[in-house]
Amino acid sequence: MPDSLRLLAIETSCDDTAAAVLVGGRLVSNVRAAQRVHQGLGGVVPELASRAHQQLIAPVVRTALDEAGIEAAELDAIAVTRGPGLAGSLLVGLSFAKAMALALDVPLVGVNHLEGHIYSVFIEEPHPPLPYVCLTVSGGHTQLDLVEDGFRHTSLGRTRDDAAGEAFDKVAKMIGLPYPGGPAIDRLAAEGDPTFLDLPRTRLANDHGRLDFSFSGIKTNVLYSVGRAGGDAPVDEAAREAFLDRHRADVAASFQQAVVDVLVAAVREAVAVTGVHAAAIVGGVSANRQLRAAAEAAATQDGFALFVPRLDFSMDNAAMIGVTAHARLAAGQHDPLTLTATPNLAL
Ligand code: KG4
Ligand code: ZN
Repeated sequence: MPDSLRLLAIETSCDDTAAAVLVGGRLVSNVRAAQRVHQGLGGVVPELASRAHQQLIAPVVRTALDEAGIEAAELDAIAVTRGPGLAGSLLVGLSFAKAMALALDVPLVGVNHLEGHIYSVFIEEPHPPLPYVCLTVSGGHTQLDLVEDGFRHTSLGRTRDDAAGEAFDKVAKMIGLPYPGGPAIDRLAAEGDPTFLDLPRTRLANDHGRLDFSFSGIKTNVLYSVGRAGGDAPVDEAAREAFLDRHRADVAASFQQAVVDVLVAAVREAVAVTGVHAAAIVGGVSANRQLRAAAEAAATQDGFALFVPRLDFSMDNAAMIGVTAHARLAAGQHDPLTLTATPNLAL
């Protein structure tokens, strides 16, 4: 494999159309178009997402190549997310990538989106020493893995119900904040009192040595508190609205604190039981300021190194797909053009 290998990476698993170019494993361009069609709809509408990808994919790839100063004909390989994600969304990126690989007669590399998030801490220096504990917190996944050399990861635990990002999005909807809920709660929580609601920190069920966690208890408690305006009995809609007008920021802060406490406790326990010296937090929710601050404080206190990707590498992006594909190519791996999208692909 030439050390100047020119790689185009494409990511279309959900509602971001993204492309990146890497030369010799180094990122030279990274383009992401967030789809606006879902705004005001309370979530991603799969049919709209795949149509928007159809519109955006060619211009996004064109821009990534232009910003890298590279012609398509100069590419040595094409990487693309093959799952998990929305079927209609994955198929747009995968078909586009296959067409390019066929036309240019270069290898196609399918990448697991979750592996992409895990390796997002390798896009830039410094990166974690192997082995490390990785907490992946996104809209669709919340899991803890031990990452070892050569693409080996062992599952340490996962959510038993909602993904953390999903809980952020649902609670945001509950208290009248727009989608995506994570950034909205993050902003509003800064003005609120995190002790306003007494929410459960669902204990890590450490059975069979696993570090699983749960967010449904926290979410249900928020729902009850809002439905009872902080009191003991259900109230009508007007009273609920009045309660939220006064305490929306306090509810957001209490919810966020509970989720952050659960996640940080999970990372600490994982580091302790595995005896590693480093941890990473990746995925969209790792953008959360309270989570970053609390995890940094825990790392300092417990004496492990913490790695969190830059904001544009924590949300869905093509750079992480490129970095993972580069490692697969270096290990002599690529995929046939018969590769299919796998919406429920596991790590
Ligand atoms: O990794 P990602 O971009 O897409 C998936 O693969 O799911 O993660 C998106 C999730 C959404 O649920 C969004 O609400 C959440 O990440 N998120 C945040 C923040 N920014 C994005 N959650 C909490 N705080 C944030 N600042
Ligand atoms: Zn993701």
